Amino acid sequence: MGRRFVAERRRDPYYRAAQDQGLRSRAAFKLDFLDRRFRLLAPGRRVLDLGAAPGGWAVVAARAVGRSGAVVAVDRRPIDPIEGVRRVRGEVGDPALAERLGAVRFDLVLSDLSPRISGAYATDHARSVALVRAAWQLALGCLAPGGTFVAKVFDGELVADLEQELGPRFERVDRTKPPASRDRSSEIYLVARRFVPVPGRGAPVAPGRGGEAPLYTVKG
Ligand SMILES: C[S@@+](CC[C@H](N)C(=O)[O-])C[C@H]1O[C@@H](n2cnc3c(N)ncnc32)[C@H](O)[C@@H]1O
Repeated sequence: MGRRFVAERRRDPYYRAAQDQGLRSRAAFKLDFLDRRFRLLAPGRRVLDLGAAPGGWAVVAARAVGRSGAVVAVDRRPIDPIEGVRRVRGEVGDPALAERLGAVRFDLVLSDLSPRISGAYATDHARSVALVRAAWQLALGCLAPGGTFVAKVFDGELVADLEQELGPRFERVDRTKPPASRDRSSEIYLVARRFVPVPGRGAPVAPGRGGEAPLYTVKG
């Protein structure tokens, strides 16, 4: 870890707030923003969190869905235990992963998957789009009717293709960039709502939590 990186991190209000509030990463504030804007989390919801290590999103999701809900966190890297979260060490894109998740229908599938950054814009963009496709393939088989799919992607020309692929299966697909995303990062999030499954598959979805109050606070 370089000295500049450490100094920058110390000045970062999201990093400091995450530490103060027992969150595992500054990424937690991105999910909090997405939740406030799109009302993703509610007690009783079942959430699949892809690319979950070190667990910032999973902590936020588990607190919000409570004991009546469920959170399954998947990553190729190990995740330290989180109360109320089932951890699955695995590779998104591996066809065997779906079976390991079991027969659960998720109300919300989150993908914060990131490729290894090469620094070459076109390569990183294409890799990030490929990860969204891998997450979407998994979500297609386990998302409940009316459910929501959220995916991080590095912005670029292929994002329009993704929107076209998701469009027919959802009532609405939005793009957004949380304030906690660093200015220099090209990451955006696609939020696809009200999943319309292939006829004959799936189960009813849980009702919404409502309310606009942020779960977490950041002192600027
Ligand atoms: C930005 S981090 C996620 C941060 C997390 N949302 C949080 O709040 O702490 C991206 C993660 O994606 C994981 N990842 C990337 N490609 C993956 C793949 N194909 N399968 C599983 N995990 C993957 C990485 O190991 C990394 O932990």
